[in-house]
This record gives sequence, C-alpha cells and structure tokens, in this order.
Amino acid sequence: MIIGSDENKCVENSNQLEARETDFDKTFESSIRPKVFDDYIGQAELKETLAISIESAKKREQCIDHMLFYGPPGLGKTTLAGVIANEMGVNIKITSAPALERPRDIIGILMSLKSGEILFIDEIHRLNKIAEEILYPAMEDFYIDMMTGKSQATKNLRIPVPKFTLIGATTKAGSLSGPLRDRFGIIHRLEFYSVKELMSVLKRTAKILDIKIDTSGLNAIARRSRGTPRIANRLIKRVRDYALVRYDSDITGQIADEALDLLKIDDLGLNSTDRNLLKLIIEKYDGGPVGIETIAAALCEDVKTIEDVCEPYLLQAGLILRTPRGRKVSPEGYRLLGIVPSVVQTSLFE
Ligand code: ADE
Repeated sequence: MIIGSDENKCVENSNQLEARETDFDKTFESSIRPKVFDDYIGQAELKETLAISIESAKKREQCIDHMLFYGPPGLGKTTLAGVIANEMGVNIKITSAPALERPRDIIGILMSLKSGEILFIDEIHRLNKIAEEILYPAMEDFYIDMMTGKSQATKNLRIPVPKFTLIGATTKAGSLSGPLRDRFGIIHRLEFYSVKELMSVLKRTAKILDIKIDTSGLNAIARRSRGTPRIANRLIKRVRDYALVRYDSDITGQIADEALDLLKIDDLGLNSTDRNLLKLIIEKYDGGPVGIETIAAALCEDVKTIEDVCEPYLLQAGLILRTPRGRKVSPEGYRLLGIVPSVVQTSLFE
C-alpha cells in the first residue's frame, strides 16, 4: 500500500535520491573523482589521520595497514580508496564481495596482486565464509592455503602472496564477522556532508562538466542532496537540463528550486519514498514502533533499500527513531508532515 496514492498499488519511485551506485554512476563518477587529498572535500578528521598513516608508511617503505570504511552509500568510500592509492603511488584493484563468490575468484585476485598494491573490496560484509577464511592468512601473514588433489590424496599447499593493503567498504559494519573486522588496523566511519561541503563538491563538478551555476544554485542543490555527494552530482545534471530547456540559462537558485520541485525532492532532500515511509508509520501504526519488514512490504521496497538508503538519512535528520521494537516517527517527523501526534504518542515522547 502506498500512502497518498492508489491503495494496494506500488508505484515507481524516482531514483534521483537513491544513493546506491549504478553502472552509469561508475563511469560518470570516475570522470569527476578527485585523485588527491587536496581535491577531496569533507571528512576532514578522517583525511588528517589517513594522511599521517600514509606518510608514515611511505617513510617506513611499507604497506599501509588494512583499512575498513563504513557508512551510508554515496559518501565517497571508493573515491577515498583511489585517493589513498594515488597518494601512496601504488596501483589499486577494485572489486566487490558478490564478485568473489567462488574460492578461485578471491585466490585469483590475491595471486594477481603485485607488491604494495591496494585491493579494494566493496560491500565486504557480503563475503562468504570460505572467501573470508582464504583472506585471513593473506591479510595477516601474506600467504594462502590451497588444497590440491582429490579425497585421500589431498595436499595443503601454502602459497605466498605479495604484501598488499586491503581496503574494505561497507554500509553495514555490524554485519561484518568479528574475525574479519579484527584484521583491519584502521577502521573509519564516513559522515554525511554539510551543505557547505556539498556546495564545494558541486562547484568542482560544475567546473569539470562546464556547467554555469551561481552560489544560490549551488546552495539549493546542496540543501536537497541529503548530505551525499553522489546525489548532489546526479542532481546538478538534472538541474542543468531543466535550466537549458525551460530557460536557456545558467543555473540560479530559483531555477534549481523549480527543477527539484519537479523531481519531487523537498527542502530537506526527502523524496516520495521517504515521505511515504513517515506517513505510513504515522497513519497506519500510530507513529510506531513498527518492524522494518512491515515497512518495506507496505512500501513495495526491499528491506535493503529501506535500511541502507532511506533510514540512515531519516535517522540523521532526526525524523525517525530506532527502538528495540521497531522504527518510530519522531516529533520532528510529525512536524515535517504537519501532523499532530495522538495523545498516546505525545505521552511516549515525554
Ligand atoms: N565527488 C564525490 N565526492 C567528492 C569529494 N569528497 N570531494 C570532491 N569531489 C567529490
């Protein structure tokens, strides 16, 4: 059921605010990705500690420690791994856990590494048990154990792999197995970007793509990009199209606002799925708590989209609350939709 739309009917959602990466993003993003720390905007504390680790590794002429980056999609985990490789002056091989399904996939990639290289594994929480167990000795002591032969004739072969750095990225640090997490020397969370930081990201992108935009245009897009560079970079192109077709003009604040209204992206960057989620909890479950599976089924979305894409931003914006019994809409969430909480809900907030 979709609130505010035909009951029992699922509707296509605009994906402009979907922070997850598409194949198109991969090509587009690699063309605008910063290559050095000086061009990488935001994540100031993380950049500072990483710069120290990199300088130290270079002075010691050793690999930098294995690193785990976690946080919502679209905040620049892959970009950061690329910057680190570039700053270290080493090659990076990029893969993701679903591509490492069979033992030979992970063995193949480990054996293809050259000394000092970086191996980046996206969605590392999705590695299967066998792949994880192959990875442990490779990460710790730089060898892999391989079984050869059949039945009684099996032999264990210990094969050295070159010293390398593993950079893992995940949206779900909690889903990583304990032993795998323990093997990372550096673990960092990426934070949502401020409006000011997103304006700088957009300014840089506009320059690369030769898009003319004034400060109020940058601000309008940044405000509605839910703290996420990937979304900001996607929206600026949609707004450029709107400015060109409707006004034959550069981007101004007013044009950006109009274009984003047309895309049904509100002032906080919420889209129709986010608003439907809040309305659903309020109207059908008296503000919650309600379980994530129930929410996902009612919105015709998968649990992963709700958990990885909608929830992190709604939580950070303080519009929903996580409780042991499910999700609740906060007083701010009620206010946003202009709905007054019931007497029961009001007493629960106090
Ligand atoms: N594009 C995407 N993320 C970026 C960042 N953090 N800095 C600069 N450009 C970016």
